Amino acid sequence: MPVKPIKWVGNAADGHIWIIDQTRLPLEHVELELRETSEMYDAIKRLAVRGAPLLGVSAGYGVMLGIQKAKDTPELMNALEKTADYLAGSRPTAVNLFWGLKRMRAAARENSELPADELRNRLLEEAIKIQEEDIQLSREMGKNGVQFINDGDAVMTHCNAGALATGGYGTALGVFFAAKEAGKDFSVYSCETRPLLQGARLTTWELMQEGIPVTLITDSMAAALMKAGKINAVMTGADRVAANGDAANKIGTYSHAINARVHDVPFFIVAPLSTIDLATPSGDQIPIEERDPSEVAGFRDVRVAPEGVDVYNPAFDVTPAQLIQALITDAGVAEPPNLETVAALFG
Ligand code: MRU
Repeated sequence: MPVKPIKWVGNAADGHIWIIDQTRLPLEHVELELRETSEMYDAIKRLAVRGAPLLGVSAGYGVMLGIQKAKDTPELMNALEKTADYLAGSRPTAVNLFWGLKRMRAAARENSELPADELRNRLLEEAIKIQEEDIQLSREMGKNGVQFINDGDAVMTHCNAGALATGGYGTALGVFFAAKEAGKDFSVYSCETRPLLQGARLTTWELMQEGIPVTLITDSMAAALMKAGKINAVMTGADRVAANGDAANKIGTYSHAINARVHDVPFFIVAPLSTIDLATPSGDQIPIEERDPSEVAGFRDVRVAPEGVDVYNPAFDVTPAQLIQALITDAGVAEPPNLETVAALFG
């Protein structure tokens, strides 16, 4: 049973958020209770919670922390707007964060005639619904993606697009879980994912727990393995898919897509509709988060680069739609992804 990385505990007025601190996995299992919006902001910023769909879920619960003390409805509405603006400043690339905040804002406006206590309860229902729906949508993606995994395949993935990155099932890893449930016999290559090693730490851990054979490789080994015919498909998640099908995902994904094209290996993106941003015309307009240089100059407390060296640390890159064989979503498959096929997913 895939892990649930976040939960709301207690009632709307004085409950709190429970998370697994993903920065410490897999060697340590640390659980945290978040009671202040600043703690939620910090957890997002330092990747204690991470992954695009999970940021959407975190947005919902994060907003709840900001409205707990409001005594009447106008105060609550004001606190909600302020909290949503604050959380929106935590990470710029994954559109699910903004999608989750927008959904909470809309639910508040639709119910603004309610007294504060009832409105708070209604908003907690909405936040829980975001998480429950996300799990359901992951299962739909799994069903839609299973057709692309064949018996005997070795599928490569990058970063972590599993239960830890979502409400509790997974996008790319959701397809692997569904393929396992369908009895398919396949294995996975997990790229370590420099600099924060989500692939080495989180993806390997999740797949091993589910009994899916997984081999850890460094990011730079991918091309050689493809040339040797060891990889049959590449499947990753996404942080934001633009209207034309360009997809932002963890830095390194773009090189995998180029390598896959050169070696005739199909490359797939798996993402829910909440990751597709029709307001962003192409990948050129997707804001790319730049993170602290210390993440590249070393790992955790171990410094490897000389003090004073210049470091560049973009957290994501954009894979052009032309390199993506299919975009697998909860609403169906856009194959190949382009303006028309992506728009069609929204009916
Ligand atoms: O910086 P992170 O760990 O939040 O980056 C996560 C990724 O790039 C994932 O691949 C993406 O969010 C898809 S998760 C289902």
